[in-house]
Amino acid sequence: MNDVQILDRPQAVQGSGMLPSIYEVRTRRRELADCVTLEMAPLEGPALSFAPGQFTMLYVHGVGEIAVSISGNPANGEALVQTVRAVGAVSKAVCGLKEGQRLGVRGPLGVPWPVEQAFGKHLVVVAGGLGLAPTRPIIYWALANRERLKSIAVVYGTRTPDQILYAPQLLGWSNTEGLQVGITVDRAGEDWAGRVGVVTELIAPMLHDPEETVAMLCGPEIMMRFAADALADAGVAQDDVYLSLERNMKCGIGWCGHCQMGPHLLCRDGPVFAYPAVRDLMTVWEL
Ligand SMILES: Cc1cc2nc3c(=O)[nH]c(=O)nc-3n(C[C@H](O)[C@H](O)[C@H](O)COP(=O)(O)OP(=O)(O)OC[C@H]3O[C@@H](n4cnc5c(N)ncnc54)[C@H](O)[C@@H]3O)c2cc1C
Ligand code: FES
Repeated sequence: MNDVQILDRPQAVQGSGMLPSIYEVRTRRRELADCVTLEMAPLEGPALSFAPGQFTMLYVHGVGEIAVSISGNPANGEALVQTVRAVGAVSKAVCGLKEGQRLGVRGPLGVPWPVEQAFGKHLVVVAGGLGLAPTRPIIYWALANRERLKSIAVVYGTRTPDQILYAPQLLGWSNTEGLQVGITVDRAGEDWAGRVGVVTELIAPMLHDPEETVAMLCGPEIMMRFAADALADAGVAQDDVYLSLERNMKCGIGWCGHCQMGPHLLCRDGPVFAYPAVRDLMTVWEL
């Protein structure tokens, strides 16, 4: 019995994701003034496979480790694609990595978006700002499964036109059959011919049959709360609304308690939740 426990321990640590794999940056693309997308590949073996909504812990040697959502195509196992905004020491170090430089990657971690819940229904993705990065894998997945969905809509809002993430790709998607894209910005100059206003105003016009709709939300929490209310007002069942939450994370695997939100550890029980599971917690200040 003891032998089994001694042997099990290192396997449990490795299997549960505490040991980083070494990845190399293959390409680095600037998306916005403070935001880059890295395509990374492991030094050995294939890139990790993941489900939409999962994240990794990215470790820059001598600086630290942060949680970052996977924003690539789940069907493409060749590279790990992640979009990072430089807000503090670690994210700035990740954004500053050059092609050929290495970093540690743990994952994939976390509960994915329950994308299969959308089979036979209308799927609506509502994203705000950088929230398009964690939701982009849903869109890749939906396009690959479009014959099993009644419709696909992407509702995207951000502050200004120069803050639109993946702008060329959004433009391409807006011309893709079977995919409806709505974009709005909070404020814009005269050179912006698109819509100005909050993202919640765009939701109802893009719904086909609210009672047959599954919605997936990611963005600032205040935006997600208003979006969830707009969906409810339009008749979408709250059980069919899912969202992805962010909290400061250290271990990423349910050990340290840093990401606790009420009864949930976001890294272990989330980051994706059905809205009713977190609705009341989201209104508690600084929880
Ligand atoms: C599940 C999950 C998925 C995530 N996915 C992504 C992703 O795809 N891309 C990405 O860029 N980030 C993502 N984040 C956020 C990322 O982990 C943080 O930005 C990062 O931990 C900041 O660490 P830092 O050391 O660079 O900055 P810190 O020194 O920790 O923070 C610097 C400053 O930035 C503020 N800050 C911290 N986090 C954020 C934030 N998320 N937004 C705005 N301000 C912040 C802090 O309050 C502080 O004022 C995700 C977080 C979680 C939990
Ligand atoms: S980050 Fe340690 S428990 Fe979630």
